[in-house]
Amino acid sequence: MGKINVLDKFTAEKIAAGEVVERPASVIKELLENAIDAGATTVVVEIKRGGTTYMRVTDNGSGMDKDDARTAFLRHATSKIKTDKDLEHISTLGFRGEALCSIAAVSRTELFTKQRTSPEGTHVIVEGGEEILCEGAGCPDGTTIVVKNLFFNTPARMKFMKKDSVEAGAITDVCNKQALSHPNVSIRLIRDGKEVLFSPGDNVLKNTVHSIFGKDIAAHTINVSYTKDGVSVAGLTGKGNLSRPNRLMQIFFVNGRYVVNKTLLTAVSEAYKNELMIGRFPVCVLDISLDPSLVDVNVHPGKTEIKFASDQSVYEAVYWAVKNALAETSAPRSVPLPASREAYKMPSAPEPPVQISFTQKNKNTSLNFKPFTPRPEPSPARIAKSINEIREEVKPYEGKLPVRNIEGIENKKEEIPKVKNEPLFSAPPEKTVKKEAIENPPSIGSDFRIIGQLFSTYILAEGDGEFLLMDQHAAHERIRFEEIKKGGYKTDTQLLLMPISVNLTPSEKELALEKSDFLLDMGFEFEDFGKNAIVLRSLPADCLYEEGSDLFIEMLGVLGGNEGGEISAIRDKAVYTVACRSAIKANLLLSISELQKLFSQAMALEGISTCPHGRPICIKLTKYQIEKMFGRIV
Ligand SMILES: Nc1ncnc2c1ncn2[C@@H]1O[C@H](COP(=O)(O)OP(=O)(O)OP(=O)(O)O)[C@@H](O)[C@H]1O
Ligand SMILES: [Mg+2]
Repeated sequence: MGKINVLDKFTAEKIAAGEVVERPASVIKELLENAIDAGATTVVVEIKRGGTTYMRVTDNGSGMDKDDARTAFLRHATSKIKTDKDLEHISTLGFRGEALCSIAAVSRTELFTKQRTSPEGTHVIVEGGEEILCEGAGCPDGTTIVVKNLFFNTPARMKFMKKDSVEAGAITDVCNKQALSHPNVSIRLIRDGKEVLFSPGDNVLKNTVHSIFGKDIAAHTINVSYTKDGVSVAGLTGKGNLSRPNRLMQIFFVNGRYVVNKTLLTAVSEAYKNELMIGRFPVCVLDISLDPSLVDVNVHPGKTEIKFASDQSVYEAVYWAVKNALAETSAPRSVPLPASREAYKMPSAPEPPVQISFTQKNKNTSLNFKPFTPRPEPSPARIAKSINEIREEVKPYEGKLPVRNIEGIENKKEEIPKVKNEPLFSAPPEKTVKKEAIENPPSIGSDFRIIGQLFSTYILAEGDGEFLLMDQHAAHERIRFEEIKKGGYKTDTQLLLMPISVNLTPSEKELALEKSDFLLDMGFEFEDFGKNAIVLRSLPADCLYEEGSDLFIEMLGVLGGNEGGEISAIRDKAVYTVACRSAIKANLLLSISELQKLFSQAMALEGISTCPHGRPICIKLTKYQIEKMFGRIV
């Protein structure tokens, strides 16, 4: 007898449901999509215990008649397409006809629905895929769906549910994205009796962004509106000084559908090239509209993956939309027009040339204008002190350096040895120097003299026939890292006189609340500040006030970005982050005593010669190497 069984209807339904309904947030996503497709202008979502026990979505859309109310629960029952030809130009969010059926297969689902023209509504109950009730009922215009006890009959799926707070965060995320993609629809989310989102639905995207991400982010965005070759791009993008340490705030919609797509991410990243520091990501909410026949949305049951008929034209439209929007925020100048070249294939090719004078360039009017990123400046008093100290303390070089006159005519104090047929300066290959410095760190016992500071970034020292170049940031970063580790993974904190309010995404906020003990050890004392905000009351010692908010978000990125990773590795990465941000920066003028202190602390690090990121702290050149470079030794 053969071994193949044809599965019964209920088992098959459960398997199919698993593809659509992964967690409570998938239910809310499907129900919101249905409400929007039904023309609703107001939707209220209520959840209890992260949606695991109770979810209710109420809309004021078209509603259904009694027949449709029952048919809606059948697999492949949809009013949105009729034939396979319709699959080629989908303009609704739903079209597969499987969401309600899947939800009802793994929960107890109740539907109340009424059309405006009908005197009476309908009440349907389906449990585990079986219709329990269908009767006439008095209810308001529109549709209400209540989903209780999700996964009650699929214990395997139930096991994969995360904490209620995490599931609730995912639901908030879904609601936020629907609100952002439909600013004409007011969406309210009530979580365990508390309102956590209310978007006004006034069709002004900036107001929706304000209601979700707060006024600061909304104020630092600029409008994007651009069309190229039939692809329109509209929405908001962050000014050059608005960035995040992760991509969570890069949100894209294609014909109103939230999507995750690499072409769109790359286009925005390229448009911001040279605008943001490495490791920082832009913030944007962009809706891309194009002929539905040029997008395939039928890639995955989740419908967030899509395929474009031409990645190239979408890439170019998004790239130029963002680039032009950014250009318009700077001083008046010619706006770069789409070049005829293919931006996708040559994203980093030079821009169309624009004549600029040096002074114009300084005013950020060049095409590659850089946003103003405030750098911590040493106070004037500190600079003055440092210069004086340096003047007093650094002894002038008294050796007999042959002064080489450039013209080679006057002031010839000493004959310059004939240069052989070799480059005048041939440094040893960088790798050799680094490797040597790493493998053979300078020993603490040696007596070093600080010569000074180079480029306000490197400490110069000599001693024992060696010349040392130490990276002040890398050195201090490592010192801070080791200090925090030694202190039992706790850092000193500074209490803030002026608390800092930080707007987070829902999942970031959940994570912050979940990891509040660890964050406190890292110097962040904070309180819940309603909706998506928290307020910081303290920062790690030495962290600059203006960097506090960014560092906190970066920490959450580290803590949240390593699901399943080793706890100790995540903890170390979080400590690196704090150490890095609270360490002395490059381009900061230090006094000789500061240089000395830093240098000796770094030299005392036993067996450690790199910063926590693996960059060398100190590079050594021996007298022999230097003399060889200058041709004194052949
Ligand atoms: N809130 C609602 N208001 C009015 N009609 C609705 C609502 N929700 C569902 N329907 C009707 O029920 C049908 C089935 O809904 P369901 O979500 O299962 O499928 P779909 O939206 O057509 O496709 P998909 O599975 O891709 O979501 C819809 O096509 C629509 O006609
Ligand atoms: Mg649907």
